[in-house]
Amino acid sequence: MPNSLKIAPSILSADFSRLGQEVADVMAAGGDWVHLDVMDGHFVPNITFGPPVIAALRPHSDKVFDCHLMIEPCDPFLEAFAKAGCDIITVHAEATTHLDRSLQAIRNLGKKAGVSLNPATPENVIEYVLDRLDLVLVMSVNPGFGGQAFIPSQVEKVRRVKVMIGDRPIHIEVDGGVTPETAPALVKAGADVLVAGSAVFRGGKAQYAPNIAAIRAACG
Ligand code: DX5
Ligand code: ZN
Repeated sequence: MPNSLKIAPSILSADFSRLGQEVADVMAAGGDWVHLDVMDGHFVPNITFGPPVIAALRPHSDKVFDCHLMIEPCDPFLEAFAKAGCDIITVHAEATTHLDRSLQAIRNLGKKAGVSLNPATPENVIEYVLDRLDLVLVMSVNPGFGGQAFIPSQVEKVRRVKVMIGDRPIHIEVDGGVTPETAPALVKAGADVLVAGSAVFRGGKAQYAPNIAAIRAACG
């Protein structure tokens, strides 16, 4: 079972004019996975970056590249994200008509497969794909922007997903509004990967390490 807590800084909150250095700095400050928020202006009301930017970032860290695709459709682009150097590719259940096929495609590319659930999406959509999953990403905000308020109902969803996965080696990741205040209940409910954007990047480079340490410390 995955159990040691991982912190995945979301570079959505980094300085985009110097992203390579930001990735290096935040990972040196104690980040475990680099969380990459890919947005298309269609599935979500915002646009960020795609495979060429991820490929350019790849040499700046040897840590896990955790790619959160907020794009619809996703299937035509999976290979490009695999080639760009993503280690985990997570698709939204709401953004793919054939979730089982998308997950198979990711594993066939040699990558770990994740599924993300919007706050209003019930966890039972993963019931029949559990054996194709390496990660479940529970969104605790509506995807599209950093700095939004945490939606408390998602703690219960984490608890239910934890029960569903049983002893399968599947990570439970939570994304959105994660802070030292909101993190402990998520970990208690079964989350083992916490994404944090504004709570990690606030205060500038000197604060990255204490910000990450504060989330870890709050979770005991
Ligand atoms: C939202 C993104 C998140 C976002 C989290 O759509 O998926 O990863 O960057 O930002 P914070 O931690 O500021 O809520
Ligand atoms: Zn994300």
